[in-house]
Amino acid sequence: MKLVVVGGGSTYTPELVDGLARMRAALPVAELVLADPDRERLALVGGLAARMLARAGHPGAVRTTTRLDEALDGAAVVLLQLRVGGQAARHVDETLPLACGCVGQETTGAGGLAKALRTVPVVLDIAERVAARAPDAWIVDFTNPVGIVTRALLDAGHRAAGLCNVAIGVQRRTAALLGVPPERVRLGHAGLNHLTWVRSVHLDGEDGEDGGGRDAGGDVLPRLLAEHPDELAASASLPASFLRRLGAVPSYYLHYFYEHDRVVEELRGSRSRAEQVADLERDLLAAYADPALDTKPERLSERGGAYYSEAAVQLVASLLGGTGDTQVVNVRNGGTFPFLAPEAVIEVPARITSSGPVPLPVPPMEPLYAGLIAHVSAYEELALDAALRGGVDRVAKALLAHPLVGQLDVADRLARDLVAANRDHLPWA
Ligand code: G6P
Ligand code: MN
Repeated sequence: MKLVVVGGGSTYTPELVDGLARMRAALPVAELVLADPDRERLALVGGLAARMLARAGHPGAVRTTTRLDEALDGAAVVLLQLRVGGQAARHVDETLPLACGCVGQETTGAGGLAKALRTVPVVLDIAERVAARAPDAWIVDFTNPVGIVTRALLDAGHRAAGLCNVAIGVQRRTAALLGVPPERVRLGHAGLNHLTWVRSVHLDGEDGEDGGGRDAGGDVLPRLLAEHPDELAASASLPASFLRRLGAVPSYYLHYFYEHDRVVEELRGSRSRAEQVADLERDLLAAYADPALDTKPERLSERGGAYYSEAAVQLVASLLGGTGDTQVVNVRNGGTFPFLAPEAVIEVPARITSSGPVPLPVPPMEPLYAGLIAHVSAYEELALDAALRGGVDRVAKALLAHPLVGQLDVADRLARDLVAANRDHLPWA
């Protein structure tokens, strides 16, 4: 089986390779191709990847290339983990909105829109090449903003699913708190990418199938909230008393909404995450250059991609094997959330079949969640329109629809400034 990683020169790649090495029974990769325009990174990351597989006794070959089309021939799966404009563009996403009193974040709010504008055309171009060279391949998108990018891929007719590590992170942390193996933990995780709530936690073997509800029997979330409030609150970056009031665990990204103004103040006084990651990446790449290194370095855990490897390997194995197991993915809504269009992309537990993920039914979302989901989903639709068709007016319209922007003067100013700052990455600007 041939697996192609687009953006394979990312410092995250050893995380993925670690999973491929550990989980090779589930996913026997014969050829791992790392494709990236950056030769220097490819050499460093590719070298470490090959040493990691060799150390694990993995028979797979690692190849690196700057030529995407050749890389794609015969691929069974293409994993997208690229970042258009690198950390420099991310720094702008994270800092420019702060001047307008809006949160600066790479996927949430105005910064996330700028990232979508840069990313969607590039990903669609790659997907067309995949369709030409490897028409049966699955595209698994880890590239942010995952909800918008996945919607773009599906609308263009590609065989694609969107992936994020938030759900698997909660699953692992919850399993540790309960003292059970993670495979037994089934989360009632529902919403949009980076806008989700865990409303129930079930242990396999103690109840039936459940796609995301809070009322089914055997829900251990109330007990978890009572016994481990501080751990759960810390992972959400929100007060424990608030989680108890909700009876749910919001994802970390919800604190940008529920504590917006406080977070803006905090961000104004600190280095951007892009600057921190750029420093870390320099150190990581220096470490990768050491020919004696043949494992994932400890410092990689300072990046946000924990368990990305497991999530990716599990999803790919299940898509190729048609195993029908349940995993949290980004998928078309269909009838799951009746308050959204069927074409919208949502993040929920889905049955992974060989023809794609099928979302499991989700019990009705409370108005507190449904309202925000609908609001952000409308923004995502307009963001995608702006990314596909361009124009400052469309960008401003998407910002006006975003619950964290929403005011005419701010939307107009941010649209102008973000487009100007991203001109080199926007085909239409
Ligand atoms: C989490 C999110 C990813 C995001 C990453 C950022 O893993 O789910 O979507 O890309 O954090 O991590 P970083 O180390 O780049 O800040
Ligand atoms: Mn994510």
